[in-house]
Amino acid sequence: MSIEQTFGIIKPNAVQDGNIGNILSAIEKAGFTLRGMRMARLTPELCRGFYAEHVHKGFYPELEAFMTEGPVVLLCLEGENAILRWRELMGATDPAKAAEGTLRKLYGQNMGRNATHGSDSPDSAAREVSYFFSAFDRI
Ligand code: PPS
Repeated sequence: MSIEQTFGIIKPNAVQDGNIGNILSAIEKAGFTLRGMRMARLTPELCRGFYAEHVHKGFYPELEAFMTEGPVVLLCLEGENAILRWRELMGATDPAKAAEGTLRKLYGQNMGRNATHGSDSPDSAAREVSYFFSAFDRI
């Protein structure tokens, strides 16, 4: 076990549905420390850079249209084993396959509109945290 930081997004559907508070509450109850948090409206350019590994996939235009349709909440979460634990709290990418009680089961609609994003490895966590948060923004 080690103290890690990971990156999360509360996606536009969850913001529009009024679930920011529910998701932050679940994060706090799970024992994460919030090290960074800001609301933002992603531009297509920011979205392309963030999802660079998916830009050439067939679903990318749908992903970009969704992620830029409204505000998101960007998060830097810290805690023991934070990368894996945040992914467990979110549940499977497809809300239909996510376990009961997970954030995507509770607040997601489909593969795209799945309420939250989380880094999938230490390398992507480091890249994603620093993509959106400067050292000054993290406390
Ligand atoms: S892959 O190809 O297996 O790596 O893709 P996957 O891990 O399943 O999904 C990567 C991110 O793309 C989003 N996604 C979609 N968005 C819109 N429409 C469709 N059809 C779609 N399929 C996948 C998915 O929500 C993942 O976003 P993040 O933010 O990483 O959770």
